[in-house]
Amino acid sequence: MKTKTTFFCQSCGAQYAKWMGQCQSCGEWNTIAEEIVQKEEKRAWKAESQGLRPINKPLKVSEIVLDAENRISSTDTELDHVLGGGIVLGSLVLLGGEPGIGKSTLLLQVALNMKQNVLYVSGEESQSQLKMRAERLHQKDSDCLLLTETNTQNIFRHITEIQPDVVIIDSIQTLHTDAIDASPGSISQIRETAGELLKFAKETATPVFLIGHITKDGQIAGPKILEHMVDVVLQFEGDRHHIYRILRSQKNRFGATSEIGIYEMQQTGLRAVTNPSELLISQKDQALSGTVIAATLEGMRPLMIEVQALVSSAVYGTPQRSATGYNIKRLHMLLAVLEKRAGFKLAIKDVFLNIAGGIQVDDPAIDLSVIVAILSSNENIEISQNSCFAAEVGLAGEIRPVTRIEQRIAEAEKLGFEQIYISKFNKVAQKNYKIEIVAVGKVEDVYRKLFL
Ligand code: TYD
Ligand code: MG
Repeated sequence: MKTKTTFFCQSCGAQYAKWMGQCQSCGEWNTIAEEIVQKEEKRAWKAESQGLRPINKPLKVSEIVLDAENRISSTDTELDHVLGGGIVLGSLVLLGGEPGIGKSTLLLQVALNMKQNVLYVSGEESQSQLKMRAERLHQKDSDCLLLTETNTQNIFRHITEIQPDVVIIDSIQTLHTDAIDASPGSISQIRETAGELLKFAKETATPVFLIGHITKDGQIAGPKILEHMVDVVLQFEGDRHHIYRILRSQKNRFGATSEIGIYEMQQTGLRAVTNPSELLISQKDQALSGTVIAATLEGMRPLMIEVQALVSSAVYGTPQRSATGYNIKRLHMLLAVLEKRAGFKLAIKDVFLNIAGGIQVDDPAIDLSVIVAILSSNENIEISQNSCFAAEVGLAGEIRPVTRIEQRIAEAEKLGFEQIYISKFNKVAQKNYKIEIVAVGKVEDVYRKLFL
């Protein structure tokens, strides 16, 4: 039999009959590669033939009950929170993150703690490695079953036999199905194996967690459609050299994507951080002048970023300005605004600006923190570490509203901030929040509030 091949874009998963230099779907160059496929009815998961309880039947909207019964607790408060209140039955959840960040640890810990019957399938580690890890987590006597297997036909054979309540796959990139011939980790294998697991999850109302690797630029490796197929995309992030980890949802069909969970990596596994402000306080013991926290958004995701400014007397004829991670032209503009509105002596000051963490920020909401950081350094007056800022600054010195302010406020509150300075034109109700919302209209107001 002639082997059938198809061309897939390795970036977005689009399918082509012949090779092309540029993907017409996502516009990427040199991403199209040939993969072997065999269109046969060899799907690993066929509910009918495996005699499992298919539960879906057509219902009227009014008959569908959406309540806690559709969810089970993962026993992990942060994970439950990020998922929107527990694991939804029949949901397919993708957990992405850099190698070594703790994805396997998190899900194994959940698997061992849950009282439901959990099947943890690993294609990455041997059973003895898993046992060693479980022992580190102090969970030797759990009913959770550990399987090392990468072939989905075999995995479904075990699933049919043990009928688990929850299935965890570590990782989707290691799986392969007999239905197609491509190698594990290829676009068509990822797509096919994820498709089988999706079908299984939906037909049996069994939640399935998939661990996914991410590429250098932070995308989940594999076709973009993987992210479309699953119900929830979670991202586990943080610095491998630091102990804190943040769990975010990038997509959630059953809840808000603004929720985050914070963990601390300990010798005995991941511990939920219940008081988030400890995360920030532990990094600095005291407020420093010129250092200000901005509540920004990175794509759809809220992110608190530290802005640092250093203002000193210019020693040379022309004052120096330098900006790392921030647009230098915009810095010039803000300095001009400050000269006009806050008596800042432009011509005799050097100004250095740095966005911490080597991040490039385009979000205009960072403007206010840039201004405050410059003033704070200039006046040599610290800004409280419990305050943060989110507003754009206009040419006339007006403090302008920014998008998704509720999300920024919620993030600030979640991270333990006590005050957030926003534009008075961003209409938000203080009563919805515990954090104090300080609404300002002009640069003069900000200056007066903080430094006079
Ligand atoms: P791991 O969970 O294997 O990450 P991933 O699956 O995302 O690649 O890695 C976790 C790291 O955390 C590893 O370097 C060892 C460390 N670790 C702890 O500090 N404490 C623990 O209890 C465990 C199990 C791992
Ligand atoms: Mg792992």
